[in-house]
Amino acid sequence: MRYSLFLVLCFAFSLNAKPITFYLSWYDDPTSTMTIQWISEESDIDDTLHLNKEDKWISQTGSHRSFSQYNIHQITLSQLTPNTTYSFRISDDEATYQFQTAPLTLETPLRFVVGGDVYLLKKLFRKMSEQVAELNPLFCALGGDLAYAFHHHSLRIHSDALRRWISFLSEWKKYMITKDQRVIPFLVTAGNHDLDRDHFELFFNLFAFPQKKLYRSINFGNYLNLLFLDTNHLDPIEGKQTAWLKQTLQNQTNIPYLFAIYHEAAYPSFYSYEGIIPEKIRTFWCPLFDQHQISGAFEHHNHTFKRTYPIKNQKLDPQGIIYFGDGCWGAAPRKTNEMWYLEKKGRKNNVYLVELTQEKSLIQAIDLSGKAFDEVSIKPR
Ligand SMILES: [Fe+2]
Repeated sequence: MRYSLFLVLCFAFSLNAKPITFYLSWYDDPTSTMTIQWISEESDIDDTLHLNKEDKWISQTGSHRSFSQYNIHQITLSQLTPNTTYSFRISDDEATYQFQTAPLTLETPLRFVVGGDVYLLKKLFRKMSEQVAELNPLFCALGGDLAYAFHHHSLRIHSDALRRWISFLSEWKKYMITKDQRVIPFLVTAGNHDLDRDHFELFFNLFAFPQKKLYRSINFGNYLNLLFLDTNHLDPIEGKQTAWLKQTLQNQTNIPYLFAIYHEAAYPSFYSYEGIIPEKIRTFWCPLFDQHQISGAFEHHNHTFKRTYPIKNQKLDPQGIIYFGDGCWGAAPRKTNEMWYLEKKGRKNNVYLVELTQEKSLIQAIDLSGKAFDEVSIKPR
């Protein structure tokens, strides 16, 4: 009797498979794909995603992997139409959400937000995230230290790292949704509080990177390239990654906007300029940024606001690259150092709103009240 009741309950539960949370991101062409992942209880093995395509609901089946007492489900939708809004439902959840693919060309302005050091203090994360959703970006690019699940310096993993990730991803889903139920996808790279060489399995279980490698190049049609780099969290700066960067930049000469996004800073505003990582970035990557005149670099990790003067060959130069930062989405802001390269700086939470048009890229620093308190325009390359 007790056994049959258990079976009935299990059956009822499996009929009502609902995700604990879900998140959308791009690992492939943002104009024609979308990767949807969701976390469920271990008992829920339903990998079905319902997609409304040309006014018809179709069901597609993804896959899942078990981790701890949860399942992490994953499906990559492909052959989608560029610049199109799709509705979707996950498993038995009745709620309908939307996502939008990126346009193939830059005919109308495209907005995205860049930020890092995201979910350290819940109150600040929520305040900033409300403003980000109001800005209605197509996506967010996150430069590492997302959930703070991993405490590198104390050589211990958060007592329950997965729980911390789930908390972050649940809050992200709650806040990163526009008024018309469009879920804002993210593109991520990792920081020192996300993984290191001895603890990376959880990160790669949660995110759908095709390989266990953080550096990658994502092209948006013919107008934008985002280079996500790894500041020595998994791969060294020098060697293979730098060779890849060199080759990738050589292949992107016709792209009008190209930004690099990574965690630790070449031109830090709080940490030491003489640090090993900043020095390595300046030695191995910045000469390539200079040579290929990238549109800008977004740096994080310092928990401040900064904008550098244009820099070339490690000197101030009006033809140089601006380094934006410095990772203060949801962390307590710190006091900045006085450095020769900092044109603007402040103890202030911030994210960057980038608006691309054919004429220019407008980069604005946004504070906790949603106000743009600093801006620069950058011409296409
Ligand atoms: Fe960091």
